[in-house]
Amino acid sequence: MMRTQVGIIGAGPAGLMLSHLLALEGISSVVLEAHTRDYVEQRIRAGLMEHFSVELLRQCGVGARMDREGLVHHGIVLRFGGRSHRIPVTDLTGKSMMIYGQHEVVKDLIAARLAAGGQILFEAEAVGIDELHGERPRIRFRQDGREQQIECDIIAGCDGFHGICRPALPLGALTVYDKIYPFGWLGILADVAPSNDELVYANHERGYALLTMRSPSVSRLYLQCAPDEDADAWTDEAIWAELRTRLADDSGFVLQSGPIRQKGVTAMRSYVVEPLRHGRLFLLGDAAHIVPPTGAKGMNLAFADVVVLSRALIDWYRKRNGDGLDSYSATALRRVWKAERFSWWLTSLMHRFEHATPFERRMQAAELDYVTSSRAAMTTLAENYAGLPLG
Ligand code: FAD
Ligand code: PHB
Repeated sequence: MMRTQVGIIGAGPAGLMLSHLLALEGISSVVLEAHTRDYVEQRIRAGLMEHFSVELLRQCGVGARMDREGLVHHGIVLRFGGRSHRIPVTDLTGKSMMIYGQHEVVKDLIAARLAAGGQILFEAEAVGIDELHGERPRIRFRQDGREQQIECDIIAGCDGFHGICRPALPLGALTVYDKIYPFGWLGILADVAPSNDELVYANHERGYALLTMRSPSVSRLYLQCAPDEDADAWTDEAIWAELRTRLADDSGFVLQSGPIRQKGVTAMRSYVVEPLRHGRLFLLGDAAHIVPPTGAKGMNLAFADVVVLSRALIDWYRKRNGDGLDSYSATALRRVWKAERFSWWLTSLMHRFEHATPFERRMQAAELDYVTSSRAAMTTLAENYAGLPLG
């Protein structure tokens, strides 16, 4: 049987960052990942990093490529009624954001772990967790057709929304808070320079659209669609035409189109389980909570959980002080709920709700007007967008 101090399930941003931060403090871990290295390094997901995540990458020594290749952002544009309104995030908060793809962060973390002799087992799928209430919890996993086990002190469930950790807990151990939205996002990655330097969030009568990017030559765009939309039913021309309609403004904005390299549909959901600990199992990132991507909070929340847990583990190993582990769930959840609130609010503000009453539509319009005309309201948006403090 293998043995490590912290057994980590999942090589997404949460699992890899946890392994990296623990290694810097001399705490051993093994990361199990069901997919191949290539798969996790190519999977296109998040793009926007909060100020806190940017600083975290720098402080723990994996920020060099991000600083070379990432795009620093100081504001966003809200577009509605054909008009553009800039929210000057840095002027209002002193903080900036960074566009740097999640898969690039994953590549940098994998490279750092492997260079330091870290153990990441790819194509190693966790199939069960045992002895969570004892001092030696175990992970069962399958690799090369063989079932093996790792004995650890602590198990970190970083296995995303569809992982095994959360469902492995006994019924009644967790309380679930869930909200499913009546729409999804059709996302594309296209080989064309971004048509605007800053992200554009558009509320249009035909539905929401978002213009974002991955680099000076790669655009990422999203369209509100049906939750079960078939991405393949959309031709590239139809996608560009719809984006052009929804992103139009009265100042002559021109959306440049180009070859679409990838497309897919994402469902929209808000979801939290409480508590984030069961015996020696700790849940982090998407394994514990989901936000609709509108607020760009998912990866950032995963990193925040990791920082809280890694500090607690360092105290536990160094000083045998378990207070941080005992308060992990409550501490992490305070930030989680605030990000849930912001993501839900921005989603409600920017999307078309098909069954909204005329009164509700007026409320949405009034709120858009308020948020783009009051400095106090803009500051609230900007503060949440750039990211709240950890504590
Ligand atoms: P994941 O990235 O899901 O990683 C979990 C890992 O566990 C996976 O590699 C999986 O293969 C592995 N795994 C699962 N089960 C097992 C098992 N049984 N055994 C071993 N391994 C297993 N967030 C932002 O912050 N900013 C954004 O701009 C943003 N935009 C987004 C846009 C879209 C379209 C989407 C879909 C998401 C976006 N997010 C964004 C959210 C962000 O991508 C996630 O919150 C983030 O990936 C969570 O990281 P994680 O490590 O918790 O989980
Ligand atoms: C992205 O770049 O994919 C992205 C950016 C901001 C969001 C959502 C997604 O709000």
